[in-house]
Amino acid sequence: MELTVTEAEKLKDKPDESKLGFGTLFTDHMFSMDYAPDKGWHSARIGPYAPFTLEPSTMFLHYAQGAFEGLKAYRTESGNIQLFRPGENFKRLNRSCRRLCIPEIDEDFALDVLKKLLTIEKDWVPAQPETSLYIRPTVIAMDPYLGVRASHTYRFFIILSPVGAYYPEGFNPVKIQVTSEYVRAVRGGVGEAKTPGNYAASILAGEKAHQEGYSQVLWLDGVEQKYIEEVGSMNIFFVIDDEIVTPELNGSILPGITRDSVIKLAKHWGDNVSERKISIAELIEAHASAKLKEVFGAGTAAVISPVGEIKHGEEVYTIAGGEVGPVARKYYDAITGIQYGKAEDPLGWIVRVV
Ligand SMILES: Cc1ncc(COP(=O)(O)O)c(C=O)c1O
Repeated sequence: MELTVTEAEKLKDKPDESKLGFGTLFTDHMFSMDYAPDKGWHSARIGPYAPFTLEPSTMFLHYAQGAFEGLKAYRTESGNIQLFRPGENFKRLNRSCRRLCIPEIDEDFALDVLKKLLTIEKDWVPAQPETSLYIRPTVIAMDPYLGVRASHTYRFFIILSPVGAYYPEGFNPVKIQVTSEYVRAVRGGVGEAKTPGNYAASILAGEKAHQEGYSQVLWLDGVEQKYIEEVGSMNIFFVIDDEIVTPELNGSILPGITRDSVIKLAKHWGDNVSERKISIAELIEAHASAKLKEVFGAGTAAVISPVGEIKHGEEVYTIAGGEVGPVARKYYDAITGIQYGKAEDPLGWIVRVV
């Protein structure tokens, strides 16, 4: 497919890298393309980052038929720009598209245009330690129509946002709260797709946890509320004795790329890692018998997020003495080391852009 490039007439001032937050600033350019049944995906273009006009009846706005991804571009010490397993994000985007009845996107083409966009925007990739350029590929249903069905037309776009260090005050454990009141996803639902409705469903529980001083919600399964699924918008890992455990993928858990990277690195190093069901009762029992050594979340934003405290009902459980455990530290250092080109890349995950 042909790609047209229109350069922005005026470039924005670059932000102060020491003050970057998350998701508030956007670069000068974006990628877009459209889908129509008679044309397929067409009109691939890179142009200025700009608002677009939507009919108030646009199906996406009413029924959330859409999917998105989240990945990052990293600047290495030598000034190169690189991506971490980007092909996995486009594969997951297509899995989400299939679940949402959205026509699939050519994964190779999407990666090529992303590299082209990043090459144009290379000066936007920050250089300060642990900063990055967050990448948000998104696809939305575009028909102006109020009936519930699959849209016939779609737009796919990629926007870029420079983001600061996730741990500006250092790598510190967070406090999380188990919710038995709400669930994030249910059996047969869209939990394993990266689709807006899942995030809308999670907001109220997240707000309540914040009001009580907890930074994330520990989600239980939507059928029996017995098994642990995810933490906030991250996958979760436990270290029980010498076993590193993460809940097995069951259709309602998002198959995280960081999760998969921890599992693959663990297998590569010969660590004892398993994907299996883990109930909240097993967790409490492991804590009571001092076998629960560590708990940590895993996702693109934080990479690894150690958990220092879990509240369940009226009980509060302290994990690893409220400190960062050695397993969380090891995987954080290994994955960030690969992403920023500071460590060996034993499994060939890095894709160089420039
Ligand atoms: C619900 C949910 N679970 C898990 C993850 C972690 O996935 P990844 O490691 O691919 O970022 C994410 C976020 O990206 C998410 O939104």
